Amino acid sequence: MVFNQQNIISIRDFNKEDIEYILRVAEKMEPIARSQESSDILSGKLLGMLFYEPSTRTRLSFEAAMKRLGGSTVGFAEAGTSSATKGENFTDTVRVVGEYTDVLVLRHNMEGTARLAAEIVDVPVINAGDGAGQHPTQTLLDLYTMKRILGRIKHLHVALVGDLKYGRTVHSLAYALAMFGTKMSFVSPPGLRMPREIMDDLNNTGVTVHETSDIKDVLSHVDVLYVTRIQKERFPDPQEYLKIKGAYTIDSELLKDSEAIVMHPLPRVDEIAHDVDNTPYGKYFQQAFYGVPVRMAILKSLIK
Ligand code: NCD
Repeated sequence: MVFNQQNIISIRDFNKEDIEYILRVAEKMEPIARSQESSDILSGKLLGMLFYEPSTRTRLSFEAAMKRLGGSTVGFAEAGTSSATKGENFTDTVRVVGEYTDVLVLRHNMEGTARLAAEIVDVPVINAGDGAGQHPTQTLLDLYTMKRILGRIKHLHVALVGDLKYGRTVHSLAYALAMFGTKMSFVSPPGLRMPREIMDDLNNTGVTVHETSDIKDVLSHVDVLYVTRIQKERFPDPQEYLKIKGAYTIDSELLKDSEAIVMHPLPRVDEIAHDVDNTPYGKYFQQAFYGVPVRMAILKSLIK
């Protein structure tokens, strides 16, 4: 089996074999991520991290992954500490950091920035989220979580819940699940439905998706509730956000007749009550841990 990607920009660049390759390597990485084994396969290699938007899990799990494999990292967690504040443009920054490092991880609020970066530098570029576009490494860890906990991806019914309009995690995940032929339901307030163009792409691959605004419609027959935060920062009008905020909350009372596991890319705000955390439903912290072995697999596969 081979991995065919030079960069990780969009999950749509992947085929099923590429995804399965990463998931298989991630499984081998788990003992290293848990500190039960050690490795120096990326010793002497340097990861550049350019985070123009806030991040906790994505940034720290990439850093943990690189260091657990013997590599190192440089970069910034806030554009405010970079020369962007002096007026340096994005392409100059990326070009320079590309010269310093062996691989770049980039998060930016504008769609298309990762693809642009990959055209400028010679090292592999990993998209850690570009605006409301894509978040492919999150998708790989989401798929890994389903496979590890439920044993499969294909014969599942997954509900994507919440902000399907602006949420990049659900955009990437929907394309990936379509590749596996997984059954999907989309649950969102009417104003935050999955963008029409993604719905059309899914329909063109022969996937039909059930859309609803009532979570109770899906609760009793899904295997996974993939819940997302309303992406406040992407609303052009703050009044629109205030109208939709708190549209739904998943608590253990609501889940009591369901067999689904609850996943969430995190951070959560108020969409999952804390009383779900320590129930057999709540899998989002385990999911966050899986970010480390999956990103180890990604780094190992890209760095030559
Ligand atoms: C997500 C993101 O940045 O898109 N976070 C993450 O990477 N786990 C989800 C979010 O911010 O809501």
